[in-house]
Amino acid sequence: METPRKGNAKKSRTLFFCQGCGHQSPKWLGRCPSCGEWNQFVEEEVGAVSLAADSEFRFDEAPVSIDAIAADERERITTGIGEVDRVLGGGIVGGSAVLVGGDPGIGKSTLLLQVLQKLAERGMTCLYVSGEESARQIKLRGLRLGASSKNLLVLVEIMLENILERIREIKPEVVVIDSIQTVYASELSSAPGSVSQVREASGRLILHAKKAGVPVFLIGHVTKDGSIAGPKVLEHMVDTVLYFEGETGHAYRIIRGMKNRFGPTNEIGVFEMRDTGLCEVVNPSAFFLSERPEGTAGSVVVPSMEGTRPILVEIQSLASPTNLGMPRRTTIGVDHNRVSLLVAVMDKICGLRLGSQDIFINVAGGVKVDEPAVDLGIVASLASSFLDRPIDAGTVVFGEVGLTGEVRGISQMEVRIREAARMGFTRCILPRTQGRDATAVKGMKQHRISGLKELLAVLFQAGQ
Ligand code: TYD
Ligand code: MG
Repeated sequence: METPRKGNAKKSRTLFFCQGCGHQSPKWLGRCPSCGEWNQFVEEEVGAVSLAADSEFRFDEAPVSIDAIAADERERITTGIGEVDRVLGGGIVGGSAVLVGGDPGIGKSTLLLQVLQKLAERGMTCLYVSGEESARQIKLRGLRLGASSKNLLVLVEIMLENILERIREIKPEVVVIDSIQTVYASELSSAPGSVSQVREASGRLILHAKKAGVPVFLIGHVTKDGSIAGPKVLEHMVDTVLYFEGETGHAYRIIRGMKNRFGPTNEIGVFEMRDTGLCEVVNPSAFFLSERPEGTAGSVVVPSMEGTRPILVEIQSLASPTNLGMPRRTTIGVDHNRVSLLVAVMDKICGLRLGSQDIFINVAGGVKVDEPAVDLGIVASLASSFLDRPIDAGTVVFGEVGLTGEVRGISQMEVRIREAARMGFTRCILPRTQGRDATAVKGMKQHRISGLKELLAVLFQAGQ
């Protein structure tokens, strides 16, 4: 890690940038005041280039009355891969910049090569710029994916100026940059992957996208060690941000739309990694429940809304007596603080003494669920594990839990119940407050509850 340099700062101005979030500081800092990470600051030169000086990239347009602008934004390019179109909000918008982030090896290059192949098959000229792999390596990957279209052009290049020149020359209809951290603008002296380089390169590529109306996908690695700038630095510059969830070790891959100027956010696309690339998972609920253990304590199913679509996810809990002074609380896929709060409520309201238990909570399938509706699922699965009483396999639960142990209403109740019924569930435990728009769904028995004590009674004492 670089240390502060004294004096001699006159020739070219330098600043220190946090490689995680892009925060700048005139001095080196140990801890970033913005994102809280340690040892992320690297000295970089600034102000060497100005976009305005580059006449190629000037818009030079007079103000136009808003009603006179042609509304061609709604013309989207559908990729033909349903799950990708869904997270993009219905297809690619012309001139948009899309950031695709994720851990190394999760499938970013694979997915975008597949998308370009689909578009190229339909006669669109696509340019895949790679700074990470040789043309031969890309070809080998392409063979596995069946990417062999004449219209899919591969360019191995890392110099920004050359990439832009090629783009102007070839005039592709879609561009992919794999990855933005390898692109290097020669005017800047800082290393490829540093905050200034990543910003400069993206800024100019995005400008090109806007000006020429050509969509550009920027692939960004998520890094933990801070040696290269993370995609966070770019989030505000692009129109759409897609992140891969899940783990490299598993077969499934989830892409989530974190930001979308042209569609709903939090939409997810589910894929399975096969030897022929990423395949769409058409029925995610069935997929996430496929390995569900039956008749064991600590597992319950929650219909969760992911964007506009309901998906059934399995919440698993394990409570076991601790050997430590401070019991462990480990959560994967759900909010840690939320779990601490629910544990305290269960202790106080239901008298479940979880204070001396190590608690582990996991959402099966690697999906992250971040909505209050899962509260009841967390409580139910945790109580089930603690009491060692399995929950009936045909039951789903959902609802928000308040600090006094009350169960609160949530949005989209009917959609959730229908999805559960479609997947063969027969019993649903849900908040009472929503009685107004109670809808009977065929084959689904509904238990409306208003507090946690009722939940436990319905789950474990009513003779199921
Ligand atoms: P890749 O797209 O190279 O990841 P990223 O660009 O995000 O770093 O994906 C690499 C992983 O995907 C690697 O572990 C191998 C696996 N893979 C398959 O399982 N099947 C395939 O058809 C391909 C192309 C890759
Ligand atoms: Mg890659």
